[in-house]
Amino acid sequence: MSDVRTQAVREPLCTETPGCAETPGGAAAEEPSRTAVAATVGTPTTVSAPTALPELVGTGLPVPLVDGRSVPYANLDLAASAPALRAVADHVAELLPYYSSVHRGAGYASQVCTSVLEGARETVARFVGARGDDVVVFTRNTTDALNLLAGAVPGATLCLDVEHHATLLAWRGTAHRVLRAPDTVDETLALLRDALTAEHTALLAITGASNVTGEILPIDEICAIAHAAGTRVVLDAAQLAPHRRVDIAASGVDYVVLSGHKLYAPYGAGALIGRRDWLDVASPYLAGGGAVRSVGVEDRTAEVSWAPAPHRHEAGTPNVLGAAAIAAACRALDPVIDEVAPAHERALLARLVDGLSGIAGVRPLRIWADAPDRVAVASFTVTDVPAGLVAAVLSAEHGIGVRDGRFCAHPLLARLAGGADAVRVSLGLNTTADDVDRLVAAVRAIATAGPEWDYREVDGRWTPTPDPRDLDPLRLGAVVGPGGAACGH
Ligand SMILES: Cc1ncc(COP(=O)(O)O)c(C=O)c1O
Repeated sequence: MSDVRTQAVREPLCTETPGCAETPGGAAAEEPSRTAVAATVGTPTTVSAPTALPELVGTGLPVPLVDGRSVPYANLDLAASAPALRAVADHVAELLPYYSSVHRGAGYASQVCTSVLEGARETVARFVGARGDDVVVFTRNTTDALNLLAGAVPGATLCLDVEHHATLLAWRGTAHRVLRAPDTVDETLALLRDALTAEHTALLAITGASNVTGEILPIDEICAIAHAAGTRVVLDAAQLAPHRRVDIAASGVDYVVLSGHKLYAPYGAGALIGRRDWLDVASPYLAGGGAVRSVGVEDRTAEVSWAPAPHRHEAGTPNVLGAAAIAAACRALDPVIDEVAPAHERALLARLVDGLSGIAGVRPLRIWADAPDRVAVASFTVTDVPAGLVAAVLSAEHGIGVRDGRFCAHPLLARLAGGADAVRVSLGLNTTADDVDRLVAAVRAIATAGPEWDYREVDGRWTPTPDPRDLDPLRLGAVVGPGGAACGH
């Protein structure tokens, strides 16, 4: 087995791209860097070398185990929040000396920051294939973007019950319907067609990739169905954008929402990208400075001329570092998002699914077994072992980070797991075959022999008892109490 995480430039794990040194079933050879590949094998200049996967900050981080050992962290929880791309962290560090007010200052640094923010809109728009007249509004995250859009929809909304809570709940206050998704993709498309034809709906909200199963619906077909019924589509690309190209113009989708922290740009920003008309006339998402053209006070009542989108919905000082981080992530992902990253992640997902399928008691969760594609996210339950305990053992005894719970998708988990919690493994750019093999071996040990350490449940979280690990490596005095941070996730 190989562990190539210490490489500064990582080669993708794939079987199709010539020049890949690592295959799902085999050991990795000594992997030369990208430039070395071309030099040592004499690749003709007309044949491009495989594009390297961009590096992430924190790859190979040593983490403590309860037995006193330390191992490289296998972060298999990228669907929750992904570490920064090195290019993103570097860009933010480069920008920091210029940090200053945006849209509010004549000073040089202010003008640089204003230009960075407006340039970030263009970069994000290009990355997602936006139409020329689409608008990019920077938000805090996907949830924020959906709530913003909810205030702009001139009519009823619809979604499936498989969605993340962000997509299920943002529409409260609009006439909102939730449909139970059938078991096949074809039936799901037919259901959407019937529902949208039967009742006029302004907006269909649909996930780009399920945060529970990674499954992807055919978004082009869904857009065609919706548009035929006069319905717009918002694509929740929180899980899709880090793994597959999102192309607004080609797919016909009307709005896209995404989160920087899932796109390897964890600096507190997200985005809503899409058609301008609804956003230009909607009530401002927040009222305040930056969202207005002018304000007067007559008879003690403020008279306001609101700016058009995007500024209309970005009142207050914008998060220029967050926006710049997303733009830097778009630039770094652009060369790999069409082929290299998907090939790498597909090979790893196949290895994961294959490995887990051989373990008695492990039951994978699927919505549509016939989904045409799937990002590298897999959830499962283990017979007689609570999901929270599985996750605690993976962390405490194996140095592996996964997510447990109902993944902010309670209705879906009610269907797929009878309301029980499950374990979710999610892979990405810096995941290696070794990470996947460690996970599979650890789950096998848990399912067959159980934990080696003692654990107890405190406030709904499974905790190693005792837990000798240093949980305050930054020496901030911050203590995660027994049970950690349990909440309704
Ligand atoms: C599919 C999906 N949509 C929306 C969200 C909400 O994202 P955020 O918490 O960044 O707002 C998530 C988060 O996990 C998600 O997976």
